[in-house]
Amino acid sequence: MKIQKRSWAEPYKMKMVELLRMTTKAQRIKAIKEAGYNTFLLKSDDVYIDLLTDSGTNAMSDRQWSAFMLGDEAYAGSKSFFHMEDAIKENYGYKYIVPTHQGRGAENILSKVLIKKGDIIPGNMYFTTTRLHQELAGGKFYDIIIDEAHDPTNEHPFKGNVDLNKLDVLVKKYGAKRIPYVSIATNVNMAGGQPISMDNLKKLRAYTKKQGIRIIHDMTRVAENAYFIQQREKGYERISIKKIVKEICFYTDGATMSAKKDALVNIGGFMATNEWDVFEEARNLVVVYEGLHTYGGLAGRDMEAIAVGINESLDDHHQHARVGQVEYLGQKLQSYGIPIVKPIGGHGIFVDAKAFLPHLTQDEFPAQALAAEIFIDSGVRTMERGIVSAGRKANGENYYPKLELVRFTIPRRVYTQAHMDVVAESAAAVFERRENIKGLKLIYEPKYLRFFQARFEKK
Ligand code: F0G
Repeated sequence: MKIQKRSWAEPYKMKMVELLRMTTKAQRIKAIKEAGYNTFLLKSDDVYIDLLTDSGTNAMSDRQWSAFMLGDEAYAGSKSFFHMEDAIKENYGYKYIVPTHQGRGAENILSKVLIKKGDIIPGNMYFTTTRLHQELAGGKFYDIIIDEAHDPTNEHPFKGNVDLNKLDVLVKKYGAKRIPYVSIATNVNMAGGQPISMDNLKKLRAYTKKQGIRIIHDMTRVAENAYFIQQREKGYERISIKKIVKEICFYTDGATMSAKKDALVNIGGFMATNEWDVFEEARNLVVVYEGLHTYGGLAGRDMEAIAVGINESLDDHHQHARVGQVEYLGQKLQSYGIPIVKPIGGHGIFVDAKAFLPHLTQDEFPAQALAAEIFIDSGVRTMERGIVSAGRKANGENYYPKLELVRFTIPRRVYTQAHMDVVAESAAAVFERRENIKGLKLIYEPKYLRFFQARFEKK
């Protein structure tokens, strides 16, 4: 028989496994009710396949674990910090590094250093913690992503692109002086893990240079973005992910990073800048909020694991398998007719809850309700990324995001293809009985980032 296609497989094998607890449907109904129909409030022991997030859920390699044992736990001047700093400088090219316990620690410090009250922060779609820190520092976020990003069915290959006209309107209206930076995420999370193209980034660089505006890079998933550039952008087919990542960083002036994603660790992050003044102030502030500037809330062993993880994340074979697994799940869901955000993104599948449950209004929290139903069906834990995540404006009104999504986020190097089959079949079973799914009522709402702790009841 002639071979039709050649499959890819993971560039690693298993040395240790973590056993999972299986539950009954009755146990899961009880668990989700007790969790107020919020998958963030479930106990992980009640979860079978955990697709809540790709953040801090990575499986570390044997090399990372051995580096872990070499962690230097000195309070000051730990050699593990210098290992991490070298890996960041070498691979990303930024000049000055401030370690933080995770991404939002870096966002807090960066926002405090760069944003003044009344400032405007344009960005390629918001991220929850990023926007909140910008607002807490006195800024106002404006979405300047291309319109296609808000349409789950639009197959634009670079839905993370900035609409330069939208940016120009803001610059003309408020003046460049009130815009301390443009906030650019690579592989935009809330758009469905969608990349920005190098071409768009270059044009943005040219525009902001003329205006004297910085670009700050949320580089949490930069290697996944680089993979898409390699796959889709003319001229990059033969360039390594490592080189593409460095080029992306080159067009930006500084960065915040949650190492819990791309960098294949369970905790950690940093802020980076090419400006001495910004660094000086950030290095001072980090002492207040995170820890000394050579550990920033991390143990020496965490910084060692990050140094190794960064290098592993830039391997072409790793990214191929990583995004390949996401694509596998996406194609499987589509084969059952389940509406998902297209094109398939880098870190997870985003199911379009508005299309899945068209009989529910957005005030009935369709994505939240759907995530609860999938958990009940199989113990698969997903996450709401819709009206609950979007939160409220400063005046108390709800944001009504166009995208009302359930995110099936794939941890790196953790689950097998057979797990993906179970997930897809569970979503398909819920899809078959979608007409009977009821909406939810919000019964408790915390003030900040409400999606983490909000509670609901069935309508
Ligand atoms: N930026 C992006 C794009 C993120 O996805 C996250 C976290 C952060 C910043 C904040 O980093 O969690 O280390 O403080 N995203 C997680 C998620 C929580 O599930 O998408 P952090």
